Amino acid sequence: MTMSELPEVPSGFVWGAATAAYQIEGGVAEDGRGASIWDTFTARPGAVADGTSGAVACDSYHRWRDDVDLLAGLGVDAYRFSIAWPRVIAAGEGEVNKAGLDYYDRLVDALAERGIRPFVTLYHWDLPQALEDSGGWRNRATAERFADYTTVVAERLGDRVRDWITLNEPYVSSMVGYGEGRHAPGATEGHGALAAAHHLLVGHGLSAAALRAAHSGVRVGITLNLSPAVPATDSPADHAAAARMDLMLNRQFTDPVLGGGYPDGYDELYAGVSDLSFRRDGDLALIGAPLDFLGVNYYYRIHAAAVPHDEPDPARRTAIDIGVRSVTREGVPVTDLGWPIEPRGLYDTLTGLADRFPNLPPVYVTENGVAQLREGLDADPDRIRFITEHLAAAARATADSPVDLRGYFYWSLLDNFEWARGYGPRFGLVHVDYPTGERTPRASYHWLREQLAGRS
Ligand code: FCB
Repeated sequence: MTMSELPEVPSGFVWGAATAAYQIEGGVAEDGRGASIWDTFTARPGAVADGTSGAVACDSYHRWRDDVDLLAGLGVDAYRFSIAWPRVIAAGEGEVNKAGLDYYDRLVDALAERGIRPFVTLYHWDLPQALEDSGGWRNRATAERFADYTTVVAERLGDRVRDWITLNEPYVSSMVGYGEGRHAPGATEGHGALAAAHHLLVGHGLSAAALRAAHSGVRVGITLNLSPAVPATDSPADHAAAARMDLMLNRQFTDPVLGGGYPDGYDELYAGVSDLSFRRDGDLALIGAPLDFLGVNYYYRIHAAAVPHDEPDPARRTAIDIGVRSVTREGVPVTDLGWPIEPRGLYDTLTGLADRFPNLPPVYVTENGVAQLREGLDADPDRIRFITEHLAAAARATADSPVDLRGYFYWSLLDNFEWARGYGPRFGLVHVDYPTGERTPRASYHWLREQLAGRS
């Protein structure tokens, strides 16, 4: 294997590319779609770096046929995309918007015609605004509405879609959305953010059950963003900081979802911040029900340094104020976004999961990718190197541990609306010219196509 070749993978390994509804669709006011928290949040001055929104994005609401052609041309086995809840049920509950469901129905059919397997994410952060108006994920009722929405979608698409992902990155939805306030709905809370995290997990459990009730033979998973947290220095304080970061970012989600309940030290981490009164008997069994697969999004490791709490009074702390700062380390290369490039973090994530969870289900890397800030359409050797190095690390993990890695989805098929960073970062295998919507495959697309075509 040379540095620009993909490693050998077991037969049946799934190669895919990923996107998300709000980042690519546009068409936010068309055919009965309701508002989402991202429509509201992006209108807030200063919320998005370049003042933009997903109102048009890649216009995939109209150009989805082009996107399916691009996937087919690339030769991937699978496409991970998400369904916009407010397109299907505008107010989040109640009346179903047939036109919204029809859009995804056509997309699924077009994928089937090209032999591309859909991996459908039910929630990639675009909560219907009407549900946020009554409390959003702070409320258990939102988890119940999520299950109702799941049933509607599964009844329509479940005859053709086998692989379902309930949530994308509940860490980001809860801790970044309700704790840090950098994402929609832009809240900076302690108890509320922890309640949101728990209710997202309850929603996951209810949604998984709804999928299984709607169709036999579905494969149900969840996607978590996992980042090993390593101490920035050898000091005991930084070691403790890394452990706190690991609890908040990783284990708050892996442990309950994989049947272990909340990890030791979690409740203490938030002593005084929240009384955790949103937990109910039976929740952990629901959240930890066996899954068919775990989706892992891996981008970087965190180098954690201890810092004093911004807010010394626990009752006024936000959920992300745990006395840790993420720092850059000299000698560690970074992407244009300043994200450390450390493929060993993917190795450690996969082997770590296998070590800690003897009953770990099969794993898919559901996102991994790199952004450039330059517009360029020229060769993108950094992206090709990023993919090969991360896949090599993943292959080593499967050789060294029992982790059952079944697939890899590159983030993203297209340049798209990168949340609070707007349109600056370009993650795509395919360049998008936003004013015209024109798509142009990059060198990495052509490279990946050749690699996939060369498979035996
Ligand atoms: C992940 C998100 C995805 C994209 C990538 C870069 O956290 O799931 O939508 O923004 O980061």
